Amino acid sequence: MPKLKLPKPPVPPLPKTLNPRPRRPGGGPPETPLDVAKEAGTAVVDWVDERTSLSGPGRWLMFRKVPRGTNWFYTLGSATLFAFLNQAVTGVFLAMYYDPSPTHAYESARNITNEVFLGEFVRGMHKWGSTVMVILIFLHMGRTFFFGAYKYPRELNWIIGVVLLILTMTMSFTGYLLPFDQRSYWATIVGVNINGTGPLVGPYLSDFLRAGPEFGATTLARFYSIHMLLLPGAIAALIGAHLYLVTKLGTTAPPWLKAETESELREETR
Ligand code: HEM
Repeated sequence: MPKLKLPKPPVPPLPKTLNPRPRRPGGGPPETPLDVAKEAGTAVVDWVDERTSLSGPGRWLMFRKVPRGTNWFYTLGSATLFAFLNQAVTGVFLAMYYDPSPTHAYESARNITNEVFLGEFVRGMHKWGSTVMVILIFLHMGRTFFFGAYKYPRELNWIIGVVLLILTMTMSFTGYLLPFDQRSYWATIVGVNINGTGPLVGPYLSDFLRAGPEFGATTLARFYSIHMLLLPGAIAALIGAHLYLVTKLGTTAPPWLKAETESELREETR
């Protein structure tokens, strides 16, 4: 089939607030502080752009054409991103009070709930947020699957998504031990043992998670560092790659829309 060559669509316009006001001919009345304040946004963007040339990539990222028929199901990816950001922010505050030593972990978690200002709220946001993120990531994966968005040329984004899913589940698993109460302790022992039954890498993986052949004093520190350093860093980097590919490739149209003819496409780009 001959390759369809379409005219390039025009560069999207800047939002109104970023366009400088036209100057009045002959200078006009002197500028009031309010006039200057109104243009502060433009001045700041200009200042940064002059030094970084970031407005080009910024426009590329922000002003994209989306296919006709885009609907609420397309917000599930952004909702997952929001849930991840919620986990990151609440996690930072929890880390300010949590102590990952076997003798203090339970007490420090209890202290967050009972003594720290808004501690129960922030801990609740983190706990329920993790469940919400897992639900959203599955719904988002379902949306991309049922809309056929995993097909060419988005296979790599699907693969990155699968890794994100595994890392998100590992986040839930490693976070579960941290309250260090009876339930989290025994549930984690069961989980690590299940890991150990996996083929080939299973036993090595469970040794790595336990930080040795048995649950010991360093196991909790290992889980904590995986939970709050290793995995968030990897997830943030992969989300970056995921969103780069979404921006570069655009999103897929819903499968129930029929393909447009060449003349319809030419009409649209005009
Ligand atoms: C931390 C987890 C994730 C975040 C923050 C995230 C974020 C996003 C966002 C914002 C979009 C664009 C809008 C949309 O379609 O919702 C998107 C698209 C996409 N995501 Fe994810 N995603 C995540 C996990 C996953 C997973 C687990 C999969 C599949 C295994 C996946 C596969 C895809 C695919 C194939 C697209 C392209 C959709 C299209 O072209 O229509 N993502 N993602």
